Amino acid sequence: MTSDSTENRTAGAAPTGGAGHGAFYATTPIFYVNAAPHIGHAYTTILVDVVTRFHRLKGDDTYFLTGTDEHGENIQKAAEAHGETPQQYADQVSGEFRSMWDRLGIGYDDFIRTTEPRHKKVVQEVLQRVYDNGDIVYGEYAGLYCVKCERYYTDKELVDGKCPQHEIVPEYRTEANYFFRMEKYRTWLRDLLNDQPELIRPARYRNEVLAMLREPVGDLSISRPRSRVPWGIPLPWDDEHVTYVWFDALINYYSALESKGLTERFWPHVEHFIAKDIVKPHGLFWPIMLKAAGIPLFKHLNVHGYWLIDDRKISKSLGNAVKPLDLLEKYGNDAFRYFLIRDMPFGLDASFTEPAIAERINADLANDLGNLLNRTLGMLGRYRGGKVPAAGPVEQADQELIDAFLGLPEAVTRQFDALQFDRALEGVMEAVRKANKYIADTKPWELAREEATAARLDTVLNTLVEALRCASVLLEPVIPERAVELRRQLGLTDDHHDLASAARWGEVPAGTLTQPGDPLFPRIDLAGLAEQLGGGAAAAPVVLEHKDEIEYGDFGKLELRVVTVEKAEQHPNADKLLVLTVRMGAETRTIVSGIKAHYDPAALVGKKLVAVANLKPVKLRGIVSQGMILSGEGPDGALGLITLERDLPDGSEVR
Ligand code: MSP
Repeated sequence: MTSDSTENRTAGAAPTGGAGHGAFYATTPIFYVNAAPHIGHAYTTILVDVVTRFHRLKGDDTYFLTGTDEHGENIQKAAEAHGETPQQYADQVSGEFRSMWDRLGIGYDDFIRTTEPRHKKVVQEVLQRVYDNGDIVYGEYAGLYCVKCERYYTDKELVDGKCPQHEIVPEYRTEANYFFRMEKYRTWLRDLLNDQPELIRPARYRNEVLAMLREPVGDLSISRPRSRVPWGIPLPWDDEHVTYVWFDALINYYSALESKGLTERFWPHVEHFIAKDIVKPHGLFWPIMLKAAGIPLFKHLNVHGYWLIDDRKISKSLGNAVKPLDLLEKYGNDAFRYFLIRDMPFGLDASFTEPAIAERINADLANDLGNLLNRTLGMLGRYRGGKVPAAGPVEQADQELIDAFLGLPEAVTRQFDALQFDRALEGVMEAVRKANKYIADTKPWELAREEATAARLDTVLNTLVEALRCASVLLEPVIPERAVELRRQLGLTDDHHDLASAARWGEVPAGTLTQPGDPLFPRIDLAGLAEQLGGGAAAAPVVLEHKDEIEYGDFGKLELRVVTVEKAEQHPNADKLLVLTVRMGAETRTIVSGIKAHYDPAALVGKKLVAVANLKPVKLRGIVSQGMILSGEGPDGALGLITLERDLPDGSEVR
């Protein structure tokens, strides 16, 4: 679809889901081929896989695109360092991404590589169109350039003179480039984001883009001289220049469809998924590029936070990249997916640790879900020869459980549309826990003792089987393989279980013979894991020395509040201090905090912390601190900031 209309037909109000059959087109970023896939890349790709599977379950016409970003100076340099041509190098690393996605069971429909002719052709067409419209001009550029980001930085964007992403000093460069006239569209984009607040979500990232749009955005350099950077797509009107990586890369979302004749079918439904590192190109460059090329905008730009390890960004240069495969082999694909989706509230950063994975698997999957299945199968075996009985009369306790499950498809759909994936899983698990409680309440073992309560027992067992069937359908996007295994153990071989089937009760034919098997999710030995991870045997608990008791009223004098860190900078006069700018409802405060040795300032931005809000202001090395950030201190002096288990607005009171 190369419509001339520049109207944005799709962005904004419409949810991604809703009832009935729609279409859904989801994309991951295309990943650079200068580093092997790590857990961060795996997360976005697994997330898009989950969301696409969910839409498929709903009956939507779905399409899932991922791929690799292969041009540019950085990749050229990485190839040289490996003694390979850029193409050889790109082939190899792109292959690693594909085999990783295969191992992770990612069901993408297309994998695009920017070095493919089908992509280059569309990039050149789009460039030519924008050039013909007069939105690309020739000029001279001078500035500070980070070769790893492949972009120029303004002084303001640098942290201590370094690129905030890679922590390296950018190079000063001047060169003749072609420029995309972005500034011309600034007010258009600002107005659009005000009219369609959902276009970039969650709101914090839309606000980030709006903040960029408050000042001139300048024009975007979109080419490099071919003499210096041969590894790129030549501009169609001047082959002495090649396309700057972003103009090349972003177009993949469109070229993949164009090259397969799928634009009409899927482009109006495009949902981009990215992390917060690439909000600027996606939230600023991309909509303006689309507008200038006369292509309708994406439906939503969905931005998630970072997985952090020890509160630092995962990266090859920091040496903390976790290879997805190592964990996959240890915990199994489905459990690993479950952890990633359950433990990251969309939009916020989350901490990645192996004990957290193990604890989550034990609590939700082995305990709640696995137990429910085991107990149900065990009771069916003991009391009904392994066959699912027809339900007898339904009583209030049964109906309550039935209602809890039957409300889930709608709730989960709403939560998926609102990007609340963690909540959706939590909702399903809450119902699963209710089912476990229902066993405790109805006491099937007592019902089994007397013939008079046989029909009651039938209802209870049948209700449990139905509950498990519904749970398996709702969890299938996240645990695709185990969901099928769960149903297999229930004796259900018919594989057509769509979302609508989870909104119906009484689908399991009476007399179905169950097939108990191995535990769905084996329990992880946490103590063993702690030992493996170097913690050794658990240390003896420390005998604590307590302070004097206080009255509740004393405690009530403290005003503790949730704050959002907006800025974190090194204190100009003190090595160990950070100066935080935090938001607390309508207020912004400066808090000086002694956490420099423990936290990287960049990793704190966007975090929600807890602060003492009514502490008398005090000047710390020349800067007035208006409060105090709370943290815990370990025996070795390591600090752990107090964060929230669930997202709450800043300003919320903590008691
Ligand atoms: N090639 C560009 C994107 C072009 S898209 C038109 C690029 N590539 S990248 O290899 O650096 O990938 C960045 C993306 O990887 C993030 O936006 C996110 O999807 C994923 N992640 C990388 N590190 C991550 C974390 N630590 N946590 C979560 N996701 C992360 O930028």
